[in-house]
Amino acid sequence: MTAVVEVDQISKRFRLYHERHRSIKDRIIHPGGGTYTDLQALDEVSFAIDSGQTVGILGRNGSGKSTLLKCICGVLKPNSGQILVRGTLAGLLELGAGFQPELSGRDNVYLSGSMLGFSRKDVDRMFDTIVDFSELEGFIDTQVKFYSSGMYVRLAFAVAVNVDPDVLVVDEVLAVGDERFQAKCMDRIRQFQLEGRTIMLVSHNADQVRSLCDRAIVLDRGRMIADGPSGDSVRIFREALMGEGRPSEGEAPPAVSVMIESVSTATGRFSARTNEPFNFEVALSATEPFEGYFVLELHTHDGTLVARTDPTGSPVSLSAGSQRLGVGLPELPLLDGDYELSVGLVSAFGHSVAAWREQVATVEVAYDGRASGLVPLAPNVTMY
Ligand SMILES: Nc1ncnc2c1ncn2[C@@H]1O[C@H](COP(=O)(O)OP(=O)(O)O)[C@@H](O)[C@H]1O
Ligand SMILES: [Mg+2]
Repeated sequence: MTAVVEVDQISKRFRLYHERHRSIKDRIIHPGGGTYTDLQALDEVSFAIDSGQTVGILGRNGSGKSTLLKCICGVLKPNSGQILVRGTLAGLLELGAGFQPELSGRDNVYLSGSMLGFSRKDVDRMFDTIVDFSELEGFIDTQVKFYSSGMYVRLAFAVAVNVDPDVLVVDEVLAVGDERFQAKCMDRIRQFQLEGRTIMLVSHNADQVRSLCDRAIVLDRGRMIADGPSGDSVRIFREALMGEGRPSEGEAPPAVSVMIESVSTATGRFSARTNEPFNFEVALSATEPFEGYFVLELHTHDGTLVARTDPTGSPVSLSAGSQRLGVGLPELPLLDGDYELSVGLVSAFGHSVAAWREQVATVEVAYDGRASGLVPLAPNVTMY
């Protein structure tokens, strides 16, 4: 199969100038002598995407996701490397990268259309569908600079999905706007998948990536640290994210390092029964005493989140060294099937994740009743 998108060793640097403290006199004496640092936003990233794949892009803030999409869409030019796109590509990029603020919504639709290679006549034909989808009939002749970010995203998404692209590229912007419109966008993305189109999707929502994407790429400080089946990449993303105790803005990094060594199964599987207690142990080690909370997640094989426990629901207090936690669910309200178990610890301070093990074991639930689905329900029925 030929790749629809080929990204070959692309690097992108941004030059950041530090001139703020230079006086006019200083500038005259040392013209052009402003200091700068180069920021490596993308570092030799390579991958190829086959027709019909849905690929997720994961990475913490500033890891280069938006820069990568902008390079693929041709909005930014990489410093080195090659990008090849076969077919037409429409993108929903970060807010601000796309529309001309001084132009009306209408003019921006025509402008975007012409940038995608459509004639005015073509856009005439698509125009009503685009505006219908955006639900912005009343604002289409307003300058885009007066749009709220939600309105902006609506119009941008409406253009991207109604110009019949072979490749759809969507940055995180879908998180903006109301839930109903988000759901409408997700429906349209699923429809695109069914039509066999190629999709690249940046999302901070690992569950969404796992359930929507065949494959996911993980970026870390501009480098690609994973490219594989979404489940594997999500695990790497979360472990990388959580393993380093990263200092996020305004928040001190957790000084304590906690490691989850293992859970109490040698085979990687637990057996459990519907509505019966489910207990296991977690072996941990901590470099210092740790105050926080235990969190557990269960996912189905196809990546649907079945349960995430309250991140402040199960307090733990660890002393330094190795120790074990006993975890007990008084009853497991799940029907038969295999569920993937993930476990972690959240620190009490700042609620940052201190340790995480993604899909550390499979819970095999057995059930001998006749109900079906995910959860057992036993209604009381009263006859009046
Ligand atoms: N136009 C720009 N000028 C300077 N630095 C930029 C620019 N765009 C992005 N960056 C920097 O490049 C890095 C990657 O940014 P970005 O691709 O937006 O990350 P992400 O989308 O993963 O949050 C960040 O450190 C960001 O500050
Ligand atoms: Mg971004």
